[in-house]
Amino acid sequence: MLLGIESSCDDSSLALTDLQSTKLLWHSKISQEGAHSPYGGVVPELASRLHALNLPLLAQRARDFLGSFGALKAIAITTCPGLSVALLEGLMLAKTLALGLKIPLISVDHLQAHIFSLFIDKPLVFPLSVLLVSGGHTLIVEVKSPQEMHIVAQSMDDSLGESFDKVSKMLGLGYPGGPVVESLAKACPPQEALQFTLPLKDHKGLAFSFSGLKNAVRLAILQEREKGGLNQSFKARLCAGFQKTATAHLLQNLRRYFANSPIKTLGLVGGVSANFYIRECIHALCEEFGCDLLLAPLEFCSDNAAMVARVGVELFRCKDFSPLHGTDISPHTRLPYVG
Ligand code: KG4
Ligand code: ZN
Repeated sequence: MLLGIESSCDDSSLALTDLQSTKLLWHSKISQEGAHSPYGGVVPELASRLHALNLPLLAQRARDFLGSFGALKAIAITTCPGLSVALLEGLMLAKTLALGLKIPLISVDHLQAHIFSLFIDKPLVFPLSVLLVSGGHTLIVEVKSPQEMHIVAQSMDDSLGESFDKVSKMLGLGYPGGPVVESLAKACPPQEALQFTLPLKDHKGLAFSFSGLKNAVRLAILQEREKGGLNQSFKARLCAGFQKTATAHLLQNLRRYFANSPIKTLGLVGGVSANFYIRECIHALCEEFGCDLLLAPLEFCSDNAAMVARVGVELFRCKDFSPLHGTDISPHTRLPYVG
């Protein structure tokens, strides 16, 4: 059995996965969203302290489930990318357990973990192209095997999740912004959504950009404030316009990508992939191009240890272990970044 640990941002999570069957046996998560909400984003110092509080509680729960840690054969831990002070809390727990139990430590790339959220309790599907939309990244990744991945498109500035969060913050709606912006957008009749310019409309290659759209949202809010204030109907029209334009930008890139590469299967992963409007639009595009769409269950779209453990099982099988001492914790499977 393998224990996965996740603490890269604002979710503390542990999961147990069977090494033979790859079945997820148990998982538990303590989210910190409520603690960060008043600040409109994740406060690293607070995140670190809450991981220090919550990870031992989760370890206790895991041990209660197992009876003892004796059956553990390896520990998989997210080591990058993420908030360093948050990652270190998980790494300390992982190293402590690995040293104490004399079992291997497996270093997992967070982006790779999101991709493997598609394979929790499911067999692997390769080759695969993935649109990864999270709080930190917006990428198209080509995956040939668990250790061969190549990023073919990324954001030139902000990520999509961060943009959802900023729109929410500008409207005073707290963190995380994605779910609240999605539900406000849903309340707006489609024809009443505010119009925004499509980012990188005339750009020839594959790339994402959300900073211009974010700024346009900021200016629309300023203008409305000058007129007297932001009512609920304006907020809904603004959220609908932002979500529609940001999604059209994703679709524009996917269309270009599909046109040049014969893609059989597309995976959609990351916190933003919980968004139903985005899921539906990408599903329709995949149907148009005759491509299968793989989605992670909603509970595994945002950060969780089940996806870390799922990668861990594959790395365990090829004995891709990390040293227990020193500061070299970078995964051997670090994704090759473009640019
Ligand atoms: O993957 P994730 O949990 O953490 C990172 O790796 O960053 O993604 C978190 C992001 C946040 O920006 C959050 O606002 C966004 O995912 N998110 C959503 C939705 N649910 C979460 N964005 C749009 N619509 C949603 N329903
Ligand atoms: Zn994530």
